[in-house]
Amino acid sequence: MRRNKVDKSKILDSIFQPKSIAVVGASATPGKIGYTVVKNLIESKYEGKVYPINPSATEILGLKCYPSIEEVAGEIDAAVITTPAKTVLGITEQCGKKGVKGFIVITSGFGEVGDHELEEQIVETANRFGMRVLGPNIVGVLSNSGKMNASFAPFLPFNGKAALVSQSGALLIALDAASYTRGVGFDKLVSIGNMSDIDIADTIEWLNKDDQTFCISLYVEGFKNGRSFIDVCKKAQKPIIALKAGVSAHGAAAAASHTGSLAGAAKIYGSAFQQAGVVQATDLDNLFDRTLALSLQPSLRGEHLLIITNGGGVGVLATDAAERYGIPLTFAPEDVQAELKKHMPDFGSAKNPVDITGQAGTEWYVDAVRYAMAHPWVDGLVVLYCETAVSNPQEIAEGIHQAVLESGIKDKPITVSYVGGEKSDNAMKWLVEHGIPAYAAPDTAINAMAALREYARVQEMLNDKEVIYDGVDREKALKIIADARADGRDSLTEVEAKQVFAAYGLPITQNYLAKTEDQAVELAQKIGYPVVMKVVSPDILHKSDAGGVKVNVKDEQGVREAFKTIMANSKAYKANANIHGIVIQEMAPWGTEVILGSVNDATFGPTMMFGLGGIFVEVLKDVTFRVTPVSSNQATRMIGEIRGAPILAGARGEKPRDRDALAKTICQYSNMVLDLADEITESDANPVLVYENGQGLKVVDARIILKKK
Ligand code: ACO
Repeated sequence: MRRNKVDKSKILDSIFQPKSIAVVGASATPGKIGYTVVKNLIESKYEGKVYPINPSATEILGLKCYPSIEEVAGEIDAAVITTPAKTVLGITEQCGKKGVKGFIVITSGFGEVGDHELEEQIVETANRFGMRVLGPNIVGVLSNSGKMNASFAPFLPFNGKAALVSQSGALLIALDAASYTRGVGFDKLVSIGNMSDIDIADTIEWLNKDDQTFCISLYVEGFKNGRSFIDVCKKAQKPIIALKAGVSAHGAAAAASHTGSLAGAAKIYGSAFQQAGVVQATDLDNLFDRTLALSLQPSLRGEHLLIITNGGGVGVLATDAAERYGIPLTFAPEDVQAELKKHMPDFGSAKNPVDITGQAGTEWYVDAVRYAMAHPWVDGLVVLYCETAVSNPQEIAEGIHQAVLESGIKDKPITVSYVGGEKSDNAMKWLVEHGIPAYAAPDTAINAMAALREYARVQEMLNDKEVIYDGVDREKALKIIADARADGRDSLTEVEAKQVFAAYGLPITQNYLAKTEDQAVELAQKIGYPVVMKVVSPDILHKSDAGGVKVNVKDEQGVREAFKTIMANSKAYKANANIHGIVIQEMAPWGTEVILGSVNDATFGPTMMFGLGGIFVEVLKDVTFRVTPVSSNQATRMIGEIRGAPILAGARGEKPRDRDALAKTICQYSNMVLDLADEITESDANPVLVYENGQGLKVVDARIILKKK
């Protein structure tokens, strides 16, 4: 239980921008972490007060050393802890009493090795004094603008506009060094380790207000609370990009043992990032490349990408990449082509890519870039350059920069790729220093542009509103569930599950439960022939396997025969099965089979799935997920993003299926699983038959597994 919770963001100021730092466990022995942190603070020219704390030293690296934190006369904003795990709880208490606000625990040996209790005690104690804990099991915090290397990473990162938040400490150290060779700049690096108290969401919330951070890059292994992450990201005013590790089944297991936190399934994370307005990276290189673009350039808000190149080959490679990354090229309009033709030799091409030819010098680049940037048709520009003997890479870089400035356009993105040698590399560095992301391959420049497009797309999706439906009968659903629980069951029968679905407005097939043969005949006549008959028993989940299903039953005699056969088969299948009766169900006409389902994900809570039914779900696993609630726009996207989408759109001469009704049903289903999150752990509507436009759909079979209580 946390007490004395003070203004969260104020305390995070003490961690990310402390005015004074105590290093508890500071050491005079080179090579020790406690020595390195003090040395790093000095070498990074930290301007606040540094207080080394060590009971057996009087001076460390020229700084006065204190035997304990209580002995320090001045105020201490943050304490960096570099003593062994068993000492940390006592130090927490001492720091709390001293009035320290930020508690940065580098020490390992807590939750990640199974000692959750000690970790929790530290957080409890810290929070009791109003302190917040970063870590444990971290490298520390680095800030270029704060001239603060409060870590054991070797130096401050290459200076720039991004912030990197990493769940892996070792990776953070590696990326610190790589920031120089890659030329991707960061203002802050934050290692968050076990996230015992301050988590990714808290850190994003703080960085969102930080005027030195223009893009937030995340290395993520797993969240403890996925929903608070989504909420915080949705509110963020700057791009967030995430690299999720542990997306393969094996990788997920590795991530869990590494951080002690559970990694969710790849598909659920992918959807959650999209719903949170977060851009994704595929690997470390991609994280760097995309971070560079997102920290330097505005988003790509339209589909019209123009490529200007002096080489046909790189132009074609970029064209292929544009299609691959979801921003396919179209030809530029006539007026754009006519104007661009003036800035190239006769044998150039003004279509798209615009090939100003290998003969192109700086002026042609400048004229083409200036014109293209300013033209309203162009939403974003990729400039490619192959190093030639008739051009100067640096002059061209300066020309591109000058042209962008002269165009006066600030809200359209530009990325550049130079293919060449050292001169090209130097020119690209110059471009990056001047705010234009430049890459050594056309593919990468296009991928960076795709990140800027993805950012615009995911942000647009944030305007989606959840749809709330009238006429939901929650009490009825809860009563059905309570009755099943009273019966000692943790799953509902098909009839009960459908009643719950119906209580949330889902279109189910008509069904009635018959206890006797005569009742079955009466109900079949009420529904109208033909009917389907299925055994209803909590002990028989796979009804067909038990011979408990008869379809297309056409008349009274058929009903009587089917009743007897199903009862006999079911008893033969499981002698002591509790048989509630036989459900008589309308025989729904043929439609396209889809599946809706839900799982209660450990990280994101109630999460919903949609896919095509039958072989598509069983063999091809062609399904997509969303964290609930699902807005109607998201439901439409779900229907459009599965590989089998053309089947619903009306492939091979088939009439299009009623995707509006399907989208509505997905939303209703999502409302149901969110509303009943305390009761339902898993559910399926499978199959759901979708009819032609305007004809709606029908849930034919249903399954609900209850949470164990
Ligand atoms: N108050 C002040 N100083 C203390 C206290 C105390 N209560 N108790 C011990 N100290 C001093 C020690 O005397 C020592 O100083 P000395 O060198 O003058 O003797 C100093 O604190 C450090 O204590 P040691 O016992 O020497 O511990 P050591 O430095 O070997 O290890 C450490 C401590 C680094 C915290 C270690 O326990 C640890 O957790 N290492 C892993 C840290 C890590 O890797 N974190 C990031 C994980 S992410 C990644 O993979 C990179």
